Amino acid sequence: MSQGSQVLLLGAGFVCEPAVQVLSDAGVHVTVACRTLAAAQSLTKSLANTTAIELDAGDDEALSAAVGKVDLVVSLIPYTLHPAVVEAAIKHKKPELDQKAKDAGITVLNEIGLDPGIDHLYAVKTIDEVHRAGGKITSFTSYCGGLPAPANADNPLGYKFSWSPRGGLLALLNPGQWYQDGQIAKVEGKDLMASAKPQNISQDFDLVGYPNRDSVSFREFYAIPEAHTVFRGTLRYSGYPEIIRTLISIGYFSQDRLVSLDGGNKTPPTWLQLTAQLLGLESTVTQSQVRDAIASKVQFLGSNELTKVLSGLEWIGILNETEPVTPKDTPLDTLCEVLQGKMAYADGERDMVVLQHIFEIEHADGSKEKRSSTLIEYGEPIAPGYRSAMAKLVGLPCAVGVLAVLEGKISMKGMVAPWSDPVIAAYLTDQLRTKHGIELAEEVIA
Ligand SMILES: *[C@@H]1O[C@H](CO)[C@@H](O)[C@H](O)[C@H]1NC(C)=O
Ligand SMILES: *[C@@H]1O[C@H](CO)[C@@H](O)[C@H](O)[C@H]1NC(C)=O
Ligand SMILES: *[C@@H]1O[C@H](CO)[C@@H](O)[C@H](O)[C@H]1NC(C)=O
Repeated sequence: MSQGSQVLLLGAGFVCEPAVQVLSDAGVHVTVACRTLAAAQSLTKSLANTTAIELDAGDDEALSAAVGKVDLVVSLIPYTLHPAVVEAAIKHKKPELDQKAKDAGITVLNEIGLDPGIDHLYAVKTIDEVHRAGGKITSFTSYCGGLPAPANADNPLGYKFSWSPRGGLLALLNPGQWYQDGQIAKVEGKDLMASAKPQNISQDFDLVGYPNRDSVSFREFYAIPEAHTVFRGTLRYSGYPEIIRTLISIGYFSQDRLVSLDGGNKTPPTWLQLTAQLLGLESTVTQSQVRDAIASKVQFLGSNELTKVLSGLEWIGILNETEPVTPKDTPLDTLCEVLQGKMAYADGERDMVVLQHIFEIEHADGSKEKRSSTLIEYGEPIAPGYRSAMAKLVGLPCAVGVLAVLEGKISMKGMVAPWSDPVIAAYLTDQLRTKHGIELAEEVIA
């Protein structure tokens, strides 16, 4: 029984609201704890059976006291704090977290969101079905992206930020590796954007995908040693990688200290002057000289692409001859500031999450099949109390996982990955579908 259970939820970010709502509806008492009381209160104020408290999860004693009062803890705070939360939940001293959790008889449910979370649940669903029938997964590719809905992808990058872009931009320099036709294929961080390829997921939008870090370990993780291709990627609207690649080439992703351009006279440079400086040009160059310098830096672009990229750069404002820069510590920080300002979601706009797995299957009788599993989820229009697609797809699986633990559906102890047991995975996917209408649509495509 989950009714009357006590849950401590750490965090007050955008993914918390759907989780708190579902738990409160189920009669679970939720204590929302955040470093700022007001943030916690904003989540609890309209919900029955909830309490808001101020808590710094970095304060071991306060954390331990709060954890001691409840049946279950949900950590929706940055992952670097998760070990401390698990420690507080265990309160024993043994060398390894998993064994500690087992010894303490507690379940630590991990990675129950979107990615990781729903993506893995639906990967193992099909893999398990195929394996049970004696078949093989010869290829697994998966793409996921959190994007603006098509109608709101109305800037040259086709992208918007709900929070600081810095981490997301730096991730565009991550190297990637995956299995391709039985070999390990790699891309260096500097070439990640160049590796983006068109993805035909829906005729309603034009997406491209590029590798999402290390997919190699997923062959073992998904127990598909037979797969010659294992690839996980990130989705963006087409046009995005070319603009990012150009910004990187110019030097806007540099984390070196920005050398002052003011020559001591405290006049901030214009955007054109800063761009010229990053390109190694004199600050007196004209806009057309800067355009030429960019064109010669990005010879990888076709002339059509170059025209689009330059108009994108103009839209961002980095070719502007009159507007002064507000310089930050580094070129990257200076760029982040302007992107955050120009590419923020506005009221009434919606986000979208796209997730697609493609499985190539060889059945026991030797016949072949290509199957897709696809989720396209739209957020609610931005307004007070709205739920973004991302919040739904991270927060609702979390709530479903919490209820499953409270109701004894997951009785394994120690660190439990929701997909590690097909029975648990099936239960969670079933709950997500029937209670929240979240599911991946499966289709035989070849
Ligand atoms: C809180 O939940 C309990 C069941 O756990 C229920 O009896 C009680 O009415 C709820 N309180 C409110 C204010 O909804
Ligand atoms: C894209 O997918 C649609 C079906 O969704 C198909 O009709 C079309 O031919 C595909 N286009 C390409 C270029 O593969
Ligand atoms: C340059 O910036 C100024 C001030 O923000 C703006 O008024 C002007 O339209 C911009 N120029 C171009 C070409 O975008």
